Amino acid sequence: MPAERERPAERELPAERERPAGPGAEAALPEPESGRDTAALKIPPGENALEVTSVTKRFRLRGRKEPLTVLDDVNLTVGYGRTAAIVGLSGAGKSTLLNILGLLERPDEGTVRMFGDETTKLRESARARLRGESIGFVFQQLNLLSGRTARENVAAPLLYAQGRELWRRHKLADEALRRVGLGERLTATSASLSGGEQQRVAIARAMIRRPRLILADEPTGALDPQTAGQIMELLFSTAREDGRALILVTHDHALARRADDVYLLDKGKLMPA
Ligand SMILES: Nc1ncnc2c1ncn2[C@@H]1O[C@H](COP(=O)(O)OP(=O)(O)O)[C@@H](O)[C@H]1O
Ligand SMILES: [Mg+2]
Repeated sequence: MPAERERPAERELPAERERPAGPGAEAALPEPESGRDTAALKIPPGENALEVTSVTKRFRLRGRKEPLTVLDDVNLTVGYGRTAAIVGLSGAGKSTLLNILGLLERPDEGTVRMFGDETTKLRESARARLRGESIGFVFQQLNLLSGRTARENVAAPLLYAQGRELWRRHKLADEALRRVGLGERLTATSASLSGGEQQRVAIARAMIRRPRLILADEPTGALDPQTAGQIMELLFSTAREDGRALILVTHDHALARRADDVYLLDKGKLMPA
């Protein structure tokens, strides 16, 4: 079981600030302190968020005798409060690696130690619980429910929570949306939001259960450079300030350089870039 995390004290959020709302304008991000909860994590000393050791992944393809080795002896350590970026060409295996770290797939060989526990041999139910409680995933294809409101999309992961988190899910979703600067779009359907706004909804949804590990797969791929920069800043600051670990997959080297550590995935090998 994951360790108990500190719950923030209940308190009222400061009033939303006035924002220019020109047509097509992205809502400005709130100041870092504005409406933030103090969700800093309690971290066991000496423990890393993630330790990947000798991970190999192969896919068997129809019509090919030899399997395709997508990840070959991959090693990666990410501490709490640290951000790591992984760059690589399309098809290099970045999403495959992220899916393994997100416990959506298992490696063929190697271990994935997360929050102190080895996860590759855990039963599927235990992996699903760990994923739900401790991992926030910002998918490459955002996977928002287009006919649902921003609030409903962000609250969706809390349908699997219990007690207070379950019955207060809409209030928690509203708080999370305010933190990403979408306090005025709570009841907008996600289909009616701009690309940058949809990306912020996806980030708020990934954060709603206070994950210890955030995995983001090309989170700014479809955004203009300025909005992409804002989104990255939002992800980085949330991770660093609260002591979460963030792994970002991107093909944008300029964005990658803003991470603490940058790695290149090439021909199945992960190496410092
Ligand atoms: N489930 C799968 N079955 C077979 N091949 C796969 C599967 N998933 C990914 N691949 C192959 O593995 C390689 C890496 O894919 P992916 O991890 O999506 O790369 P990236 O995210 O870096 O673009 C590609 O050649 C892809 O076709
Ligand atoms: Mg990919």
